[in-house]
Formats: sequence, C-alpha cells, structure tokens
Amino acid sequence: MYKIIVFVDMHKLPSPFGGRVGDGGFKQQTLYMSWHKIAENSTDLFVDGNPIIEIDLGEKKVCIVKLKDEIKACAEKCPHAGAKMVDGYLDALGNIVCPLHKYKFNLEKGRNVTGEGYFLKTYLVEQRADGIYINL
Ligand code: FES
Repeated sequence: MYKIIVFVDMHKLPSPFGGRVGDGGFKQQTLYMSWHKIAENSTDLFVDGNPIIEIDLGEKKVCIVKLKDEIKACAEKCPHAGAKMVDGYLDALGNIVCPLHKYKFNLEKGRNVTGEGYFLKTYLVEQRADGIYINL
C-alpha cells in the first residue's frame, strides 16, 4: 500500500472520489492505493455473460465492466443520486449508462459525457499473468 496526498481545486477538477465539478474550494485528500487480486481471469468474473458486475472487496463494493478485451472498474453507485451502476448498461461507444436518469460516463476517466458535470470514480485495473488486479 502507498499513500498519496493531493490538493484538488474543486472549481476546476472533480474529486478523485467522484463528485461534481464546481463544488468549490481546495480540498486536501489522502489516497491510499493498493492492488487487490479479484480473479484468475475474466471468465471467472463474467460467468453469466453480463458485461457489468459488482464485487465486494470487504471495505468497498466496486463495479467491474468488460469492455471488449479490456476490464474497467468504477464506483458501485452513480455520483448523481446513488443508483447502482451494476443495473446500468453500456452504450455503443463503451460508456456506462446509469439506470436511473441515464447519465453516461466514460470508463477511462469517469467523465460524464452527457454534460451534467458529474464524475464517476474509476479504478485502475491490470490483467497480469497471474490474474486480474484492481488498484483501490
Ligand atoms: S442516479 Fe445516476 S444519473 Fe441520476
């Protein structure tokens, strides 16, 4: 595990934990990041053919998405009103669509591509020789 302290200008950038641009002020946030193995391979994760699943890692739940040959990860709840992203779907461009109000989020950076100004927290995922890892 490693610790990163960041200062976020909330006038310009979203919180690294998600949220909305323009919430105002500077915030100091401490990020603790560590890699967690979540599966041996993608077939262990997406057993029923659904490209969006939710996994429980103990301290938090995370939404895992199969996007073509890539695996992406994001927060389990929408930053707008907390809908479960696992109940959403993927659009033709590979954005995850919230099931409640249909806001769309890019899975690379979490940017809200439909323009409402929200950011969905995303996590790094690595497919290594010995399994799939997520950085929380
Ligand atoms: S709860 Fe997701 S768009 Fe409103």
